[in-house]
Amino acid sequence: MANAFFPEKEAYVVAVVGATGAVGQVMLEILAERKFPVSELIVLASSRSAGSIIEHEGKEYMVQDLEQFDPTGVDIALFSAGGGTSQQYAPRFAEAGCYVVDNSSAWRMHDDVALIVPEVNPHAIEMAHTNRIIANPNCSTIQMVVALKPLHDAVPIKRINVSTYQAVSGAGRKAVDELARQTGQLLNAQQPEVQVFPARIAFNVIPQIDVFLENGYTKEEQKMIDETRKIMEADIAVTATAVRVPVFYGHSEAVNITFDGEMNATMARKLLADAEGVCVVDDPATEDYPMPTEAAGTDAVWVGRIRDDHSCHNSLHLWIVADNVRKGAALNAVQIAEILIR
Ligand SMILES: NC(=O)c1ccc[n+]([C@@H]2O[C@H](COP(=O)([O-])OP(=O)(O)OC[C@H]3O[C@@H](n4cnc5c(N)ncnc54)[C@H](OP(=O)(O)O)[C@@H]3O)[C@@H](O)[C@H]2O)c1
Repeated sequence: MANAFFPEKEAYVVAVVGATGAVGQVMLEILAERKFPVSELIVLASSRSAGSIIEHEGKEYMVQDLEQFDPTGVDIALFSAGGGTSQQYAPRFAEAGCYVVDNSSAWRMHDDVALIVPEVNPHAIEMAHTNRIIANPNCSTIQMVVALKPLHDAVPIKRINVSTYQAVSGAGRKAVDELARQTGQLLNAQQPEVQVFPARIAFNVIPQIDVFLENGYTKEEQKMIDETRKIMEADIAVTATAVRVPVFYGHSEAVNITFDGEMNATMARKLLADAEGVCVVDDPATEDYPMPTEAAGTDAVWVGRIRDDHSCHNSLHLWIVADNVRKGAALNAVQIAEILIR
């Protein structure tokens, strides 16, 4: 069926850039799960992995070196190979006529680049008619805005104060290995090796994600602030504290929200129960609330602990959990690609 971006296509040449990584691997799974119409699949990574084989849907694919690759003929490229790689190669793919959905932070805040969460601002895809690079937001931002958008549509949000509890997989394959390795080392009374994070992560909590900026926030916190405002298309006051915790998969967030009008927990529970992409698990009587152990491997944004903030009028607390590699990265990117071919 014809569509706005590909008037004459029914199946697409899809390249996954960073296919050997934590996000790239899940992108491949999700393309298959959602039966994305792929006519040819190309898997790319750095020269380190070039020549290795990825098994996918019963077939073997040889990983190609991005540096040597000619993007001519690729319809859609899903990039998850770091900011520097996207900065260098995404424009080359776009110039060759390919639509790039980029998971890194390289292009997110460019004025002419759409930053999309399909449940929130799918209309921003229009920008792809003039700039073929489309940005996928930060994982912590995605899950938060999916839950906040239906509330904001009912009563405008004035202020958001979020604290995150972020899984190690948000920092990639090597970070997952580091938590496993350090846990083993500590349980065997050995000195843990610190390679990926600024401090030991096993049996610890680190209040730093990414580098510090001059304003005292970390880059991860600033991303949440800036990206939330861009995606929600609203002048909301946002503040954030981003924390790494020793969890493998699934980011959690404690979010405090103040509205510019009447809002309470009962209203919020109703709005969230009907919201696209959201699952409410919220029953203090049975001690039911979302947790990363249950959110990992799922596609939903899970919301619980919905309650009025008794210290402030028209303010709520929410606890929001999602699989950071799926909805926070790979799934959201594939959903953006689905908008392109819709
Ligand atoms: N993990 C998350 O939850 C998450 C969420 C949102 C966004 N992201 C973003 O997604 C990107 C990838 O994250 P990840 O967690 O998947 O990292 P990862 O597990 O470290 O994987 C990195 C991938 O990028 C490839 N790569 C690295 N440098 C490259 C280069 N110069 N040329 C071509 N390929 C290169 C690697 O290939 P080799 O095998 O050749 O090294 C690997 O496939 C990052 O930009 C990250 O910020 C991640």
